[in-house]
Amino acid sequence: MSNYSKNIWFDGKIIPFDEANIHVMSHCIHYGSGVFEGIKCYDTPNGPAIFRLKEHMERLHNSANAFNMTIPYTVEDLCRGAINVVKENQVKNCYIRPVAFYGFDTLGVHPKDCPVQASIATLDWGAYISKEALQKGARITISPWRKFKSDSFPASTKACGQYLNSLLAVQDAKSRGFDEALLLNIDDTIAEGSGQNIFIIKDGVFHTNDKNSNILMGITRDSIFKILSDMNIEYKIENISLNDLYDADEIFYCGSASEVTPIREIDDHVVGNGKAGDLTLKLQEKYYNIVRGNHEEYFSWLTFIK
Ligand SMILES: Cc1ncc(COP(=O)(O)O)c(C=O)c1O
Repeated sequence: MSNYSKNIWFDGKIIPFDEANIHVMSHCIHYGSGVFEGIKCYDTPNGPAIFRLKEHMERLHNSANAFNMTIPYTVEDLCRGAINVVKENQVKNCYIRPVAFYGFDTLGVHPKDCPVQASIATLDWGAYISKEALQKGARITISPWRKFKSDSFPASTKACGQYLNSLLAVQDAKSRGFDEALLLNIDDTIAEGSGQNIFIIKDGVFHTNDKNSNILMGITRDSIFKILSDMNIEYKIENISLNDLYDADEIFYCGSASEVTPIREIDDHVVGNGKAGDLTLKLQEKYYNIVRGNHEEYFSWLTFIK
């Protein structure tokens, strides 16, 4: 795996990639009993910096709490682990993947005394959907798979097993030639992508949904609220209907991996003029500059490695 870095932080120590192994009978292998994060580190004029590191590690802890899992490392321990592994791997731009999971003890569904293990890896991961999608817009499809409701699973957590819902949706989308899926809720309102939140723009106003729509409360989504406020652009948080979607001037996906990805088609519906929208591209540029350390006023979001 050439895009993976040399070392991994594993249960508190930095060890070589090949030695970061677990037993096949680990609880998480059988039941998906883990929680994870997806974080980006960007090269900036002041060296590599991790974007919103603390918020991600806090969400990791919150996800674990929702499943009564106690991670034996504090948020500060995990932040330090991420910084150290980036340093050790001497990477400048990378994706950081923390995961905490139940290890081996019992095969019962109740994890009882299974140890909670954790690791933090870095990898070189370019555009999540594609470079072309970032520039020209992605082609997405409404998934036949519905988003699970928060009373079945806590949707606002990043829990491993829950991503089987996303896996089905994105597999179906790709098999039909699309870049990504869009999952609807049972009541036909819009939920989110397989790994992204959604925004629509109508008459210059940005709209997105919230936890009532069974979404992960994205950290990029939250960053965009602040950026829009600073740009004096209005945004509204409310349920999004299929009508709203088809009536939108611009649509985009956002996420730590997907950043700000314009959407140009939904099935056979062309969004706006069929190109990446102007406001979306303006926001994308601002976001790129912020994460790459070109806006001092957003330095509090960056954890500089040096
Ligand atoms: C299902 C889902 N929704 C939304 C997001 C966006 O979240 P964030 O901006 O915190 O990366 C992600 C990305 O991790 C995701 O997996």
